[in-house]
Amino acid sequence: MMKVAIDGIVQEAKPDELLIDLINGTGGSVPHVCYHPQLGPVQTCDTCMVEVNGRLVRACATPITDGMTISTKSAKAEAAQVEAFDRILSNHMLYCTVCDNNNGNCVVHNTTKLLAIEHQRIPFRTKPYEVDNTNPFYRYDPDQCILCGRCVEACQNVEVNETLSINWEDPNPRVLWDGGSTIGESSCVSCGHCVTVCPCNALMEKTMLGHAGFLTSLKKSALSGMIEVVKGVEPETGYGGILQVSEAEHAMREHRIRKTKTVCTYCGVGCSFDVWTKDRHILKVAPEHGPANGISTCVKGKFGWGHINSEDRLTTPLIREGGKFRQASWDEALGLVARRLSEIKEKDGADSLAFISSSKCTNEESYLLQKLARVLIGTNNVDNCSRYCQSPATMGLFRTVGYGGDSGSISDIEKADLVLIIGSNTAESHPVIATRVKSSHKLDGQKLIVSDLREHEMAKRADLFLHPKPATDLIWINAVSRYLLDQGLANTKFLNQWVNGLEEYQKSLEPFSLEAAAQQTGLSERTIRTVAHMIAEAKSTCILWAMGVTQHTQGSDISTAISNLLLITGNYMRPGTGAYPLRGHNNVQGASDHGSMPNMLPGYQSVDDPEVRQRFEAGWKVKLPSTKGLDNHQMVEAIHEGKLKAMYLIGEEMSIVDSNANYVAAGFEKLDFFVVQDIFFSNTCRYADVVLPGAPSLEKEGTFTSTERRVQRLYEVLEPLAGCKPDWKIIQDVANRLGGDWRYQHPSEIMDEIASLTPMFAGVNYKRLESYKSLQWPVSADGTDEPLLYTKRFAFPDGKARLFPVSWKGPTDRPNAEFDLHLNNGRLLEHFHEGNLTYRTEGIREKTPDTFVEVSPELAEERGIQSGTWVQLISRYGKVRVRALVTDRVRGKELYMPMNSVESPVNRLTSSHTDPVTNTPAYKEASVHMNVLAEVGESPLPRINPRFGHPTPQSGVEVERKWKRPDYAPPGNGNGLVQLQTKK
Ligand code: SF4
Ligand code: SF4
Ligand code: SF4
Ligand code: FES
Repeated sequence: MMKVAIDGIVQEAKPDELLIDLINGTGGSVPHVCYHPQLGPVQTCDTCMVEVNGRLVRACATPITDGMTISTKSAKAEAAQVEAFDRILSNHMLYCTVCDNNNGNCVVHNTTKLLAIEHQRIPFRTKPYEVDNTNPFYRYDPDQCILCGRCVEACQNVEVNETLSINWEDPNPRVLWDGGSTIGESSCVSCGHCVTVCPCNALMEKTMLGHAGFLTSLKKSALSGMIEVVKGVEPETGYGGILQVSEAEHAMREHRIRKTKTVCTYCGVGCSFDVWTKDRHILKVAPEHGPANGISTCVKGKFGWGHINSEDRLTTPLIREGGKFRQASWDEALGLVARRLSEIKEKDGADSLAFISSSKCTNEESYLLQKLARVLIGTNNVDNCSRYCQSPATMGLFRTVGYGGDSGSISDIEKADLVLIIGSNTAESHPVIATRVKSSHKLDGQKLIVSDLREHEMAKRADLFLHPKPATDLIWINAVSRYLLDQGLANTKFLNQWVNGLEEYQKSLEPFSLEAAAQQTGLSERTIRTVAHMIAEAKSTCILWAMGVTQHTQGSDISTAISNLLLITGNYMRPGTGAYPLRGHNNVQGASDHGSMPNMLPGYQSVDDPEVRQRFEAGWKVKLPSTKGLDNHQMVEAIHEGKLKAMYLIGEEMSIVDSNANYVAAGFEKLDFFVVQDIFFSNTCRYADVVLPGAPSLEKEGTFTSTERRVQRLYEVLEPLAGCKPDWKIIQDVANRLGGDWRYQHPSEIMDEIASLTPMFAGVNYKRLESYKSLQWPVSADGTDEPLLYTKRFAFPDGKARLFPVSWKGPTDRPNAEFDLHLNNGRLLEHFHEGNLTYRTEGIREKTPDTFVEVSPELAEERGIQSGTWVQLISRYGKVRVRALVTDRVRGKELYMPMNSVESPVNRLTSSHTDPVTNTPAYKEASVHMNVLAEVGESPLPRINPRFGHPTPQSGVEVERKWKRPDYAPPGNGNGLVQLQTKK
């Protein structure tokens, strides 16, 4: 620790701590406008000037050194602060009372007050630019822009979309999108970082405008009149009086604007934020304190909430009668569900029923559904959609290191020396994790290797991009491992101390010579060697993977090969290392963690372990079934075989997202009784006998578990829409009608029960998860969690990891003369899965209205295709009609189709082949024939889609360019101090 004197008081400081953090953290209050702790020093505003040892410095950019004497209140410092702020006010008209940003957090307002500014010396002058309203979600008002550059820094170096800049050399600088485009036609991906960090009203969410204030919905002419009145009284009253009026108006807002913390409902990153609401109107999403995301979001979490108040919401139970649905009361619908489930159990046995939980539901809800299945029906036929994506990754980790979850945290990925991404379009599927990689790569020298069929954004940014032949990742990964061991580049010390099974593993690598691997993968030997050397030379390596790995017939084996590679290079047990299978849905991790699995009770405790069963039997006071149940895939098979008669499915669009969708739908038609619980009448509802209206995440309490095993609380933002119920209440109602005596009043009681039965969650409770607190499992009874796993031992009885040999078997459904094209598929940034939620946000629909099939330029030329040409894709299992998008993201005869369509779902084309270890469908092994149709429509992606933009990468705000302007001089620095009229 170092010692410094601040305004005469001695304070202790950490080495490298910034002066501004120390001053503000020890009760001081130096003004600051451009500084934001999550952006670091931007140095554009000059309001944080303080005197250090007699010289003026910017507190935000000055690291502490021992013995500093700091004065924040000397005449010189205060004059410089006020002068700097006066310059800011010349760029911003203060009309707080009629401003939608008058919510107590406006930095310009608060700094005016802090500095007790009464009058501006430099008058406000407008800029010669129009307000830009061309983005559906936010607008930019150049006249209110104080040119602090926070937005630029956020876009360039936190989100790293590199859209924003400021034209410092222009006589009238402003923020630019793509160097001068409209926002709507730029590369802006609407992630909202810039809007979130803007310290004033220059960038604002359109959902705030005209809604946040009491007077802001007035017509523009009336508003302008009021602004004139305010300006008119300012010379006489000064800003003090005007600010008092605006603060009274702000205080009134506090009574009607609610700010409620929630966790994002979309992907597994686990972003959390406050949602601001006025009645049922969502004013904005405000990320700030999220342990996974800080200020970050993607377009879905920031703006994708149109589904909440959608008119399509189900608000009453439906019962099928005479081939049609009719509305029913809850009492009638629940009575029918209980009666039919009981009858079928009675007639055909407990195992003729099956239950599917939702990865959109909370942990508590998944727990209750599996409890209902096991306790009240007596079957282990319960599963969730991790079967479709994550089970193979979990298996790979179970085999090698013991826990089925990411081995560290997002912060470990951020600090890794080398990141290897395999089969993950991270920038679109896990956007906020991608920002951390992009930022470390851009600013901190992190190295990046990407292996994928598509040259997506992360591939374009990579130091090394591998494009192996489809389904050959296992080969090059094993070849890298063999090369490292052969060349003595493996981490022998780590292997000796922590890993079992080296000999057998090494033997299994024999077929994976560089020559053989190069021949089979299409990669050069040099490339494979380079990968090996990059890993060997890196101080720490993280490997990220996703569905491009897991959705293969060898998904479990490829995941195992990845973990083996990490083990032989000693890339576990330390910060900045480890295995990161990126979980897709917001709570797909939690659905499995909490026992919606046919072979596992909550906490991955096996159903065939008598000790485990006894514990649950004692807790639940019932005899439990001991044989493994059916997984999703087997359930569909069992329906076709006539063994499965009834199904209760929550919140899964299974008729579209399961592979070989036609076969799945045909199965549903055969069910004797089918209950679907959802918030919309999904495609799957069409096959139901009873539809129950559940509630979306904003309308309930509970917890979600993100990809980094982080358990976080969500609070009720809005009351459930009339007629709907939180899913945990519906499950409880069904359970009670089946003879249960469940009396949960609140999800916290369910969590207490989970903790009492599950060692992995022993210390989880709602108190420990209050507000933005979170826990990363396993959590011991005293509340200690494990952000980084395996710091002391691996999760096997002897504490050692296990190398698990895997061999390559080759894909199914390969191309042949008839089905000559390989079809890949996956997510798009803007839509989540089939788009049941995201299509209900108008701005998302506007920018990304439809699905498409990506066709390489060379294939397009060969077949006479252009963007907009309709094609018919025919596989061995089905066909779809879709428009082509010609792009160099794909190569040769490889196609890519995103999954955002209910009308033309890609899964009509995929097969029923699965990874035999987990029964995860081999979605990524599909071959198709393409008929080019005569019709040519518009490009499926409109010109306003950000993929057509032209980013302008630069190092950040580039404030040095501002400092070079002839009209710039640091405040108080030789130009004569300007004395402003203040109250002091
Ligand atoms: S991508 Fe768009 S929304 Fe995101 S920070 Fe950049 S300009 Fe703002
Ligand atoms: S738009 Fe950007 S530069 Fe302008 S005030 Fe907002 S954050 Fe600062
Ligand atoms: S979708 Fe994922 S990355 Fe986007 S805000 Fe939600 S949790 Fe974050
Ligand atoms: S806060 Fe230091 S220059 Fe803006």
